[in-house]
Amino acid sequence: MTDIATLEPLFARKVGEIAATVPGATSVFRRFGIDFCCHGDVRLDEAARGRSVDLASLEHALGALDADETLPPEQDSAAMIDHVLSRYHEVHRSQLPELILLARKVEQVHAGKPGVPAGLADTLQAALGELEVHMKKEELILFPAMRRKGAGALDGPITQLRHEHVDHGELVERITELTGDFTVPEGGCGTWRALYAGAAQFKDDLIEHIHLENNILFPRFESSH
Ligand SMILES: [Fe+2]
Ligand SMILES: [Fe+2]
Repeated sequence: MTDIATLEPLFARKVGEIAATVPGATSVFRRFGIDFCCHGDVRLDEAARGRSVDLASLEHALGALDADETLPPEQDSAAMIDHVLSRYHEVHRSQLPELILLARKVEQVHAGKPGVPAGLADTLQAALGELEVHMKKEELILFPAMRRKGAGALDGPITQLRHEHVDHGELVERITELTGDFTVPEGGCGTWRALYAGAAQFKDDLIEHIHLENNILFPRFESSH
């Protein structure tokens, strides 16, 4: 159980640290539009200001979380890496090519109609390309080093990968904008609905993926933590 009352005041704690330690906090952050994955190293009060969110409402929502709910038991790093690979890397790789096909179809068939997400297929294609290079670095360099006992601090590669996560966050923002926050226009066809449902799922997955790495796994291998 996390007793948030015994820690420093909520507003002064880092968003990423709250996301990693307070059960249910990530869903509150999603609701308020607080970026807890790519910009988790920001105090709660600063994050609220940055999004023009009322700090008292945000603190109230976090304070109302069930303090008796427990986080899943802490996984060792090898188990967490296995989970990241199977639940996120593999899923992005299988999901994105399909979303790109759907986006090309919607952009072609409905060209010129209101709400058409012009450029979405290219943005998804860019996301796939960037993610592939990034995930390869994790799979071939960082994760094997983490699995080796006594690998020590891995600050260099982790700093680089954290920067890439910020770029991924920007792509996700672009996808959210192009789709009007995944809102299918009135009368939109089934392909369009399938595209936006899948793209919204991709966004949620990528946010959760980056959160696990940035806020839980990476800090274990950084000398500043
Ligand atoms: Fe990853
Ligand atoms: Fe990553």
